[in-house]
Amino acid sequence: MFRWTDRPPLRLPPSGVIRGCWQLSEGHSDGWSRERAFAALDAAAAAESPLVLDCADIYTGVERIIGDWLAGRPDIADDVAVHTKFVPDLDALSTIDREYVRRVVLRSRDRLGVDALELVQFAWWDLSQPKWVRAAEWLAELQQEGIIRHLGVTNFDRAALGTLLDAGIPVVSSQVQLSLLDRRPLKGLTEFCRERGVTVLAYGALAGGLLSNAGGTPLESRSLTKYRLIVEEVGGREVLGRARRALAELAARHGATMADAAVAYVLNQQGVGAAIVGMSRRGLMVNGSRVRLSSSDVARLEATVPGTVRGEVFEVERDRQGPHGRIMRYNLNLPH
Ligand SMILES: NC(=O)c1ccc[n+]([C@@H]2O[C@H](COP(=O)([O-])OP(=O)(O)OC[C@H]3O[C@@H](n4cnc5c(N)ncnc54)[C@H](OP(=O)(O)O)[C@@H]3O)[C@@H](O)[C@H]2O)c1
Repeated sequence: MFRWTDRPPLRLPPSGVIRGCWQLSEGHSDGWSRERAFAALDAAAAAESPLVLDCADIYTGVERIIGDWLAGRPDIADDVAVHTKFVPDLDALSTIDREYVRRVVLRSRDRLGVDALELVQFAWWDLSQPKWVRAAEWLAELQQEGIIRHLGVTNFDRAALGTLLDAGIPVVSSQVQLSLLDRRPLKGLTEFCRERGVTVLAYGALAGGLLSNAGGTPLESRSLTKYRLIVEEVGGREVLGRARRALAELAARHGATMADAAVAYVLNQQGVGAAIVGMSRRGLMVNGSRVRLSSSDVARLEATVPGTVRGEVFEVERDRQGPHGRIMRYNLNLPH
């Protein structure tokens, strides 16, 4: 059993917006050169302190890009917190051992060029493969060694998160998809997180750009492939249109953008510590604090999307033969 230790709290951005760096990966979308990525990271760092970035061991090339960018900017390194993930390959789940976990985590530390990883968010593709609590314990050992500061999870439902907490794993954050379109975490996970002191970090607030009117039609990306399926789940283009109109109307009342309103909706939920918004090729930014929502604003927004995505957090995605599961790549971690 691991003991909760006194650690500084997880650093979160004052704006409530963590910059998502999946977008910088060659596997996500075209249009990001290394120079463009560095310029976007410089602009983000100039905008707030601490700058908080989200990436993953499986976002091809991204930990290295961030590490190289940080190495050239020692003066701001203390003002940047990088959250990464530990996403073992599907093919490795039955045989995973302490050495696998250590190797991947040390590789992240090496790529990022930091003394300790600020936050490692644990993912597990198939919960019927039973070694996930063991793998989390091996991560906790690396935390005890000082290689990891904080442990989080991503795409765990309430029951699985509860299992880890009850096993004594000191999970401080839970990264899940949450937006006006996808309200699965509101079926009990956010409340549970608040009760257990776990900070919710929400991705997908803009649905890859579908909940934004800045910059015209969204540019093609893997995010859009993912979120178009979410739109189908909740009723298709008509529902999306109604949600967009309601967000635009709310934004107009606050002199803000539709994207600001979409992020404000997410930040307004109990237990949510930050929204993770992907870096934009067009240099677009969001500011959720421009929009203050009343309870009637929330009700009006939610009435435009009466249905919600089926099941618990990440449940439809866990069906590897279904439409959501078929678009995922499951073995991006080793060997690299
Ligand atoms: N844990 C997981 O399973 C998981 C899954 C997905 C994502 N994530 C994390 O969440 C992050 C966000 O990714 P996402 O897929 O959810 O995408 P998203 O944040 O919903 O969409 C971001 C995209 O929306 C567009 N956009 C339109 N208006 C914008 C505005 N005003 N400000 C900023 N962007 C605007 C930009 O694309 P343009 O380039 O077209 O401008 C931007 O790249 C990822 O980078 C990753 O860190 C985690």
